[in-house]
Amino acid sequence: MRIIALMNQKGGVGKTTTCVNLGAALAEMGRKICLIDLDPQAHLTINYGINLTPEVISLYDVLLGEKTFLEAMHRVDDENIALVPSSIDLAAADIELASVPGRELVLRRAIEAAQHDFDYILLDCPPSLGLLTVNALSCANEVIIPMQPHFLALQGVAKLLETVQIVNRRMNPKLKVSGIVLTMFDSQTKLTSEVVAELNAFIEQAKGKPLPWAGAKIFDSKIRRNIKLAESPSFGQTIIAYGPTSNGAADYRALAKEIDAMTPATAPAVQVTPEPQVAPIAPTPKVEVTISPSIQSNPITTKVAS
Ligand SMILES: Nc1ncnc2c1ncn2[C@@H]1O[C@H](COP(=O)(O)OP(=O)(O)OP(=O)(O)O)[C@@H](O)[C@H]1O
Ligand SMILES: [Mg+2]
Repeated sequence: MRIIALMNQKGGVGKTTTCVNLGAALAEMGRKICLIDLDPQAHLTINYGINLTPEVISLYDVLLGEKTFLEAMHRVDDENIALVPSSIDLAAADIELASVPGRELVLRRAIEAAQHDFDYILLDCPPSLGLLTVNALSCANEVIIPMQPHFLALQGVAKLLETVQIVNRRMNPKLKVSGIVLTMFDSQTKLTSEVVAELNAFIEQAKGKPLPWAGAKIFDSKIRRNIKLAESPSFGQTIIAYGPTSNGAADYRALAKEIDAMTPATAPAVQVTPEPQVAPIAPTPKVEVTISPSIQSNPITTKVAS
């Protein structure tokens, strides 16, 4: 089973669109998929037409220990897909879990305690690096970063990777970054190719180092800008159902095949202390990514101290 967190603290980069449609394309290939909506905005949940009424059992109930993972699971039209919905209450989860020991690991424990036969669990993270994202990273074995290849895309990458590295070292030695999926892609622009070149150079620098992104790649399958992808949520449908012959469906099918075929890279060789109840407050390694105002003239420089 692969547990994949779709993560980027930048908003509107295609995390939810990728979670919904990668999930649907994998399901079409016969894989059994569980989608978990960790975002209080609940876009994934809304995409599947689930009402956000107080009666609906959600991830919030699971995190608070009031319901099990299986009790919060909803069936959707596609028999290969199950969904654990979000709730507006999740917005307060950071505060409500503040005094709970091991609060970074509650989702992992809930999933571990459940009997299921999913091939993939896809985690739709909120656009932040708070407790909900840390819970996703604590139970995932892979991170996929959806990214829109424009000039500001690289901003925040340092903080994102630093968070992955902290969770990797303290709580989850299996965690690694599988890759970056380029969304709303337009191959025609010079800027796109420059951003891709900078990203490749950045990934290249990590190769062979004990870093969770040492085995990352930019997926060959790029997600082109496609209006049907933007329209399908308002019909409560995935792109596979709403526009099966669209470019959006073709791109997500290609991505699903590519991800399904890849052998997850070996976990990085880091020393990990036994699983803590509460993450210790210890100095953490620094990841520095300096992005110049003009990527044309000054490439990103990276400094990683371990
Ligand atoms: N390839 C695409 N072509 C056209 N529109 C897209 C594409 N991918 C995503 N969108 C649209 O862009 C908007 C943002 O996408 P999405 O909600 O998936 O981003 P997100 O990263 O999950 O956002 P948030 O950070 O708010 O959770 C949505 O309106 C979505 O329909
Ligand atoms: Mg989203």
